[in-house]
Amino acid sequence: MSSISLTDRVAVVTGAGGGLGRIYALALARAGAAVVVNDTGGALDGGSGQTSPAQSVVDEILAAGGAAIASTTSVATPEGGEAIVDTAVEAFGSLDIVVNNAGILRDRSFAKIDWDDFHAVHDVHLRGSAYVSRPAFRKMQEQGYGRLVFVSSNAGTFGNFGQSAYGSAKAGIIGLSGVLAIEGARSGVLSNVVCPIARTRMTEGIFESDSAYAPEQIAPLVVYLASEACTQTHMVVSAGGGHFSRVVTGLSEGWTGAPDEPVTAEDVATHIEQILDTSQISVPMSAADELQGLSDRLNLQH
Ligand SMILES: NC(=O)c1ccc[n+]([C@@H]2O[C@H](COP(=O)([O-])OP(=O)(O)OC[C@H]3O[C@@H](n4cnc5c(N)ncnc54)[C@H](O)[C@@H]3O)[C@@H](O)[C@H]2O)c1
Repeated sequence: MSSISLTDRVAVVTGAGGGLGRIYALALARAGAAVVVNDTGGALDGGSGQTSPAQSVVDEILAAGGAAIASTTSVATPEGGEAIVDTAVEAFGSLDIVVNNAGILRDRSFAKIDWDDFHAVHDVHLRGSAYVSRPAFRKMQEQGYGRLVFVSSNAGTFGNFGQSAYGSAKAGIIGLSGVLAIEGARSGVLSNVVCPIARTRMTEGIFESDSAYAPEQIAPLVVYLASEACTQTHMVVSAGGGHFSRVVTGLSEGWTGAPDEPVTAEDVATHIEQILDTSQISVPMSAADELQGLSDRLNLQH
């Protein structure tokens, strides 16, 4: 296949001052995109820390001959989202790619987590992704082209102890991306999700510093999903250590009750193994798809 080029494309990468976002920004710039490097800086929990590292990533991109501009605005408000998108349009004249990568962590078991912490995590991950994506999405719809890349996590897809706020926000991001994939389809706006597994400050307690899970292993997927070469939408892809695989929300074959008799709780108990059996899975691509399949199965008119 011919090489993937992002020449003349403009990208926003949120949370790009360090960790995975920095690697994504560098890779997108290397592929030819002009990049808005957005990052507030700060500690892992979103509290104040070092001053914004966004400019130093911009300097790296400029030194390598690329185009970039820094943004230190938080993604966690609607005005912030607008301002980040405005920065791209004012500096580079358009916006084609958004990578919603900014994130914080405030892990606590569900029994103990403070609502302030729960909300702060949702504000950055789920709401922040929406706040940046909406002005971008409107612009992309108008211009008839766009690539949205969202960042979720296996805490959202599969669950993880102590991450009720983070996991629920990350699962919500998959829902958001799926709806935007459906709403954007007619205007050439594709929306996909990456679930990275990589060594960063967020995971330093999990991976050794010399582990195989280098953040550089995720960037090729992000560049592909951000490019014209990508024709897929509504996908969720897990990536780590150079391995890539699709994450699906599927339906088992299931069990259907008799058409002329109400199903009882005892019937459900009797058939629960069959209902939950995942040996055959289908993957609807919309709520309408699921309904169509169910109506067909029940031989209903709709
Ligand atoms: N590292 C992994 O294995 C892993 C796994 C699953 C998901 N993720 C996700 O990948 C993304 C990047 O994480 P990372 O591992 O590189 O951690 P990281 O802490 O290095 O990166 C997150 C970045 O987001 C920035 N940020 C925080 N709040 C912000 C705000 N309100 N506005 C703008 N920027 C803000 C931070 O300053 C930081 O630079 C996150 O969304 C994270 O949840 C990472």
